[in-house]
Amino acid sequence: MRDASIGEILVQPDDLHHRVQQLGRQISEDYAGREPLLICVLKGAVFFLADLMRAIEVPCEVDFMAVASYGSATQSSGVVRILKDLDASIEDRDVIIVEDIVDSGLTLQYLLRNLTARGPASLAVCALLTKPERLQVDLSPKYVGFEIPDRFAIGYGLDHGERYRNLPYVAALKAE
Ligand code: PRP
Ligand code: MN
Ligand code: MG
Repeated sequence: MRDASIGEILVQPDDLHHRVQQLGRQISEDYAGREPLLICVLKGAVFFLADLMRAIEVPCEVDFMAVASYGSATQSSGVVRILKDLDASIEDRDVIIVEDIVDSGLTLQYLLRNLTARGPASLAVCALLTKPERLQVDLSPKYVGFEIPDRFAIGYGLDHGERYRNLPYVAALKAE
């Protein structure tokens, strides 16, 4: 799919593939002997989750959470509402939050607080993309795929008005 709104490619399919394999190997080493529970944040992280999970060699499980931040569509407000909660308890589990992108960090900050209160044995974050220039809160995911510049990113799960999630690469949205 190629249309006029798709700008410069930020991460090519091959680079996505190789980095996801590396992250999977790293997680497999770090969680050897344990059985992590991956928490996928809908919807954007689904694509990354599906590839990452198949690159993890220790037994693992997945659960899903959907959240929405109040406020404008382009900027997250930090006030987050749970649209779909986890199916099961995470008490005493080794939890890894899987996100496609950490932008302001407000969604993740909320999730970390919310999930910490549920008493997991451990809680880590694996984010495919971070935008260091935009981060508003003091957090640093343990596992990061790529740091990208402050551009509106689409593809590989990331949307603009729900479109472009199916692109096999990450691109910048072209200003119109
Ligand atoms: C996007 C992205 C992260 C979050 C990051 O999700 O997938 O979950 O925003 O933004 P933040 O760091 O500024 O909080 P979005 O709310 O667009 O939902 P989606 O995953 O369904 O597209
Ligand atoms: Mn999201
Ligand atoms: Mg979105």
